[in-house]
Amino acid sequence: MCGIVGYTGNNDTVGVLMGGLKRLEYRGYDSAGIAVITDSGALDTRKKAGKLAVLSDDLNAHPLTAGNTGIGHTRWATHGGPTDVNAHPHLADDGRLALIHNGIIENFAPLKAELLEAGYTFESETDTEIVAVELGRAYREVGNLRDAFRAVVGRLEGTFTLLAVHSDEPGVVVAARHNSPLVVGLGDGENFLGSDVAAFVEHTHRAVAIGEDNIAVITPESVVVTDFAGNHVELEEFEIAWDATSADKGGWSSFMAKEIAEQPEAIANTLRGRIVDGIVEIPELAGLGADTLRDIDRIVIVACGTASYAASVARYAIEAWARVPVTVELSHEFRYSNPVLSERTLLISVSQSGETMDTLMAVKYGRDAGVKTLSVCNTQSATIPRESDGVIYTHAGPEVAVASTKAFIAQIVALYLFGLHLANVRGTLTAEELAELTEQLTGVPEQLAEVLEVTETVRTLAHWMADTRSVLFLGRHVGFPIALEGALKLKEISYIHAEGFAAGELKHGPIALIEPGQPVFVMVPSPRNSPVMHSKIVSNIQEIRARGARVIAIAEKGDAAVLPYADEVIPLPIAELFMQPLLTVVPLQLFALELSTAKGLDVDQPRNLAKSVTVE
Ligand code: F6R
Repeated sequence: MCGIVGYTGNNDTVGVLMGGLKRLEYRGYDSAGIAVITDSGALDTRKKAGKLAVLSDDLNAHPLTAGNTGIGHTRWATHGGPTDVNAHPHLADDGRLALIHNGIIENFAPLKAELLEAGYTFESETDTEIVAVELGRAYREVGNLRDAFRAVVGRLEGTFTLLAVHSDEPGVVVAARHNSPLVVGLGDGENFLGSDVAAFVEHTHRAVAIGEDNIAVITPESVVVTDFAGNHVELEEFEIAWDATSADKGGWSSFMAKEIAEQPEAIANTLRGRIVDGIVEIPELAGLGADTLRDIDRIVIVACGTASYAASVARYAIEAWARVPVTVELSHEFRYSNPVLSERTLLISVSQSGETMDTLMAVKYGRDAGVKTLSVCNTQSATIPRESDGVIYTHAGPEVAVASTKAFIAQIVALYLFGLHLANVRGTLTAEELAELTEQLTGVPEQLAEVLEVTETVRTLAHWMADTRSVLFLGRHVGFPIALEGALKLKEISYIHAEGFAAGELKHGPIALIEPGQPVFVMVPSPRNSPVMHSKIVSNIQEIRARGARVIAIAEKGDAAVLPYADEVIPLPIAELFMQPLLTVVPLQLFALELSTAKGLDVDQPRNLAKSVTVE
């Protein structure tokens, strides 16, 4: 969850570290800190509780001495609250060694007890400081950071990416990773380390992903990677596809506003080059050949939060098109549920970051059980795609706001592409049907651009509802996961109680929540595509209206049947069944954004959250 950056080279080290942390702040924003080996060979550290701006102000008021090697950290607290003392870096070896950490050291208690017994003292309540002290102790024995890491990593249980510098080794940053992300950025006379490429994309587009249980040693001129046993590891360089400006806010009020607006482009990019004459072509799927796909008899999709709702939308489409049973499991429930898997099961993971620990563990569980794995991911060379047999990248570009928007619809589109590919391979759709569906998909970016015009209506609604304490969302079929997603968006950035329900479930309990004035968003299916579901939803609307609910219907334009019963109607362009959820979600994203803004909250960095959840 935390963001980490390392640098060695002749650039302005503090500037590089702070720039990297700014781009990584979405990973955690409880506190931040940096350590630099100064030109005079001393280790200078600064760390502050609060957002990065607090550290930045402090550095402006009292600049650090210049240097050419350093590490930086932005924290999402696990062990110990967000205080100056608990912020990273943590120091050891009489203040000559500085360490930062992303992850959790699960056996920190026995390690700490052992160190206390040996007479060491601790300043913070963190698990990280134990590693710093261990590393300092090992350093004194072996005399260099790389070997000190090798001596210590075997004693650590849990997850970690660790970065350290020592004032006796100017120009060197050493990192070790175990179940936590780490990438190296390759520069000219300078090198970088980061939790993800956003940390250094401003400076270089050349990168190397560091594999599991490896140690990386960077100097301005070299990058050397070994495994924990000391064996040399070959580097696999890749080109970063994101450009630096796409991770900037530009003139937008928030990253979330920008990312919502980028959705037509995100979909166009995810589709680009993947539909040829009405047939889906995905070269990255080479690891999952046609024979394998013909043979599977079941698909299980694992994901968390918003990604799981994207999976739940796509489930209906994949089943309808490829006639394979699909279930969607929350990643953190999956591996503890003793799932029934066979060699004919395909396990698909969906993850924007590609680093979500719950999902990574579900993928590893599936792989160990012998099932084929496919990942849908937005982040190049992230851990989850690297652990999978095949990958379909969503090309939504960097998503910085904690609340996922453009990645969500790009995930649905990527899964749709897979569903169409599967249907083609298995012969469950005709060439005409495939051509028709791919054409529908190609038309989505234009329709999305049209939906983005509803901003004004939604803003008025949001301002009217700024003091609302609870909002409900109802949907059926593909509209149901959209209702869940609408509720999640509102909860996470507006802190308003919100719940999504399958509309048919209402009468089985939740309708008791309806009292006069209760706002309810209803996803209305198109009367052309689904006349039966449409009439059922209209009945549901009447049921809640009769009990005083204030109904906001999101319906296809021209749907006259909802007009008499809805207090507000947000019109959508005419779209076919499976394309509609891609449009319906947009007013809900905008509503959450506007309501959060109306309440004066931090839209991009809501309380208690971090974007990349790398702890279980
Ligand atoms: C909500 C949100 C989260 C993520 C979830 C999975 O807006 O963004 O619910 O969808 O934490 O993250 P990824 O997709 O990175 O695995």
